[in-house]
Amino acid sequence: MYPTRNDLPESARTKLVELLNARLADAIDLQTQCKQAHWNVKGPEFIALHKLFDEVNGAVEEYVDLIAERAVQLGGVADGTARVVAKRSSLPEYSAKEGDGRAHVEALSTVLSAFGKVIRAEIDRSNELSDADTADLFTEVSRGIDKWLWFVEAHLQAEG
Ligand SMILES: [Fe+2]
Repeated sequence: MYPTRNDLPESARTKLVELLNARLADAIDLQTQCKQAHWNVKGPEFIALHKLFDEVNGAVEEYVDLIAERAVQLGGVADGTARVVAKRSSLPEYSAKEGDGRAHVEALSTVLSAFGKVIRAEIDRSNELSDADTADLFTEVSRGIDKWLWFVEAHLQAEG
């Protein structure tokens, strides 16, 4: 930890940096999976899904930056290299092996939902550490992920 004039106690900041880095690994993993979907989708809905998956990627890239920079603001080091991310991520591996749109919608919905769940839990953990700002950051990310899950999952829901 680096010294900082930030008034949150160091014990809280240390725990916050740890949880921010855990979620940073998840967020980077999620971002790479959005691109995997964007690149490999095929089928009659190609152009809509290809563009949507890139839009989700763009949003997730912003969440990555928010989470990483919050860790640094609290005196920590943001760990975002591929090797650390691969070791640390709590998310499942991307499941679509072939091109069809439905498989990619299902794969991306699954990982968005897994990420949404861990992010939502961090809202309460941040509040327990008396850091309303990190809780607010996770709330923003969580609200965004709920929206993107809706955008992606809606492709399956008309089928009941
Ligand atoms: Fe592209």
